[in-house]
Amino acid sequence: MRFPLSAGVLSLQVWPTRTEQEILRKYHLTHLIKLASNENCYGPSPLVFEAIRNLNAHRYPDPQGMPLKETLAEKLGVSTAQIIVGNGSSEIIQMIGQTYLQPREECVTALETFPVYQRVAAAMDANCICVPLSSGRYDLERILASVGSKTRVIFVANPNNPTGTCINETELKDFLDAVPSNVFVVLDEAYQEYQEEQLDTKRWLSRYDNLILLRTFSKVYGLAGLRIGYALSSPEVIADIHRVRLPYSVSLVAQQAAMAALQDLDHVQRCVVSNRQQRNLVQAEFTGRDYSFVPSQTNFVLLKMDVAEALLQKGILVAPMRLFHMPDAVRITLGTAEENAELLNALQSL
Ligand SMILES: Cc1ncc(COP(=O)(O)O)c(C=O)c1O
Repeated sequence: MRFPLSAGVLSLQVWPTRTEQEILRKYHLTHLIKLASNENCYGPSPLVFEAIRNLNAHRYPDPQGMPLKETLAEKLGVSTAQIIVGNGSSEIIQMIGQTYLQPREECVTALETFPVYQRVAAAMDANCICVPLSSGRYDLERILASVGSKTRVIFVANPNNPTGTCINETELKDFLDAVPSNVFVVLDEAYQEYQEEQLDTKRWLSRYDNLILLRTFSKVYGLAGLRIGYALSSPEVIADIHRVRLPYSVSLVAQQAAMAALQDLDHVQRCVVSNRQQRNLVQAEFTGRDYSFVPSQTNFVLLKMDVAEALLQKGILVAPMRLFHMPDAVRITLGTAEENAELLNALQSL
């Protein structure tokens, strides 16, 4: 028996999933190189493993993640009232949708970007206006032109997933100045640590009440499996988003791991440097071979070749870009030196 669903929920496809075992069996492989989800191939700081060893698993964690918020507030120079912690930044995107989007209202984002923005809008029965990228980058002019009386939120991923491209400081400030003050700009900075030009966006929070910054521990901090991220905004906005937050959505393990990860910024810096070396090497090789790709500022590269299936047959998992509206491309997460060497060999043999 089927039960009634809203049009928005009905429009959603279940997120595809395949276990590693299924892939190994199907392709007769003994091992799989995973370059599909933009995780940090170097893993988290060793301090993380120390911190999560002896936790009171039978106790609930702090409902708001207050100890982590205190650590973040001190590091970032903001107040704890300006921070909300979530089960990955994905959960915060969902909470923003629940808080600010009503049926038939609108959000605006890029077409070829992180699909969770579009999914969250659909789940709320809101419309998502998707503006195609221009030369691989967010088209802020057309996004502005799409803002109407029903627009509540604009989602901007900077750097963008899947292109790894960035908007610079001047472009962003001009954009923020032009967006009506009753429309939120959610600036998703999941990959900001990898960016060449480091933007100090948090200092804009005092100037723009409609700005929400999203950060995650899933990328350079190496905690994707633990699910933890956070957002920064004004105390009023954060208090409103807290209305929809479920009290224990972020586990004790994730909270402790994030606090430990923040104590080891040398590790973060080493990961950024190693990633940059590998990215330069892989991109130089792509250029030498005349492959079409988008130069990246992140830990992944968009290769404009439909090679996901062919690479999988050789034991390398990359992300097909159908869900990102780029069916002829794959997004390749940069791996370790050994993994990237295997990737380059596999590509050459296709
Ligand atoms: C642009 C962007 N934002 C947010 C996320 C979500 O990260 P998480 O929910 O793991 O914090 C991702 C993950 O791939 C991403 O690419």
